[in-house]
Amino acid sequence: MRVVFLAPLYPPEMIQYTRGLAEVGAQVYGVADTPREHLPDAVKPYLHDYLQVPRIMDEEDVIARVSAWLRGKTIDRVAANWEPLVVLAARLRERWGMPGMSVDTATGFRDKQLMKERVAKAGLRVPRSRRVRTETEVRAAAEEIGYPLILKPIDGAGSADTYRITSVKELEEVLPRMRGIPEASCEEYIEGEEFTFDTVCIGGKPVFENVASYLPKPLEMRTQEWISPVIITVRDMEQQRLQGGIELGRKVLTALGMDDGFTHMEWYLTSKGEAVFGEIGARPGGACLVDQMNYTCDIDLFREWARVICHKKFSASTERKYNDAIIFKRALGRGRITRIDGLGAWRHECGQWVTEDRLLRPGTPRRNWKHTLLSDGWVQVRHPDWAEAHRMAFLAATNINMFAE
Ligand SMILES: Nc1ncnc2c1ncn2[C@@H]1O[C@H](COP(=O)(O)OP(=O)(O)O)[C@@H](O)[C@H]1O
Ligand SMILES: [Mg+2]
Repeated sequence: MRVVFLAPLYPPEMIQYTRGLAEVGAQVYGVADTPREHLPDAVKPYLHDYLQVPRIMDEEDVIARVSAWLRGKTIDRVAANWEPLVVLAARLRERWGMPGMSVDTATGFRDKQLMKERVAKAGLRVPRSRRVRTETEVRAAAEEIGYPLILKPIDGAGSADTYRITSVKELEEVLPRMRGIPEASCEEYIEGEEFTFDTVCIGGKPVFENVASYLPKPLEMRTQEWISPVIITVRDMEQQRLQGGIELGRKVLTALGMDDGFTHMEWYLTSKGEAVFGEIGARPGGACLVDQMNYTCDIDLFREWARVICHKKFSASTERKYNDAIIFKRALGRGRITRIDGLGAWRHECGQWVTEDRLLRPGTPRRNWKHTLLSDGWVQVRHPDWAEAHRMAFLAATNINMFAE
């Protein structure tokens, strides 16, 4: 089985999917813009062949180069797990007449307005919204939708250029900052808790499902530097208050025509108990969400995803053993990390339940917390009881403190 895998080494967790593909017997043809001589050793054993392209985002150019490179070879699958490349993968499949998600379907998972229109058409609850291209259109949409509202790029990621706006005055302040963005979605602000609904699907039907709780919601994680963002996978997916979101999620998959692979949806739970659609991608959640799902069930979803893509089979256990919490830390100050306080005591308190300590150590330069949720590193801790996982997570959020200068 020959599989073209776009971006097999970036973001870094893609190396794990490349490994998964190789482990289920695929010959992986990797395509990325990293020079061959700079490929990390961790990915090399899993690549059968590799093509360096000058610009991975230049779809026309990549299509031409990859087609020339593979001329005369039979390719069985084209896959991408990084959001900006999902449509490109579909274009390659269409060009070569291969099975898998079409460009139209992939676009429904990528374009935030189109996805909401398709989801709404299936009778599901989405925020009221408009596609806007000019300042005049934004003002008109704001008038119609009312405040508070959200203004965000139609194909954004990681809450970049996303604004909660509560008045005409704020809208006028935000408009100049949106000037570089060709298309945006202007939508009703949904007050509520925010969750994920993640799946691995075969033929659009989930063979694995996950819900994770964002504490606080991603937009706040992204705008307040002092916050230590916490995400916890929910062990007990049978609980009543999540059923609306899980049902919504399954119906969204049908409405958008999902086939094989990962999905990552976000949804809101209002104080009235209503589940409202947020967004969805036909790819796994980023940051460390797949690691968290793996710790939740003690499985290897990187490999299971590959098995699904190549052989339409999923062989891992879906029994949920833990609530897995990740806590991202941001150092106080700029420059290099100088000190970490409270880590030893926290590790001692949590003992066997700690699964990862990936905090940046003294001497390492800080990461840009606005650019990556990974911030200055993270710790992970898991526990069968929700309350205990939550307690240990917030202990890390409060009592571990990092400093930089
Ligand atoms: N309509 C909305 N109501 C409330 N919050 C929203 C809304 N749209 C976006 N947000 C907030 O902004 C964040 C980023 O928006 P999202 O559509 O998920 O884009 P991204 O692709 O950047 O993750 C969401 O996780 C949520 O916290
Ligand atoms: Mg999102």
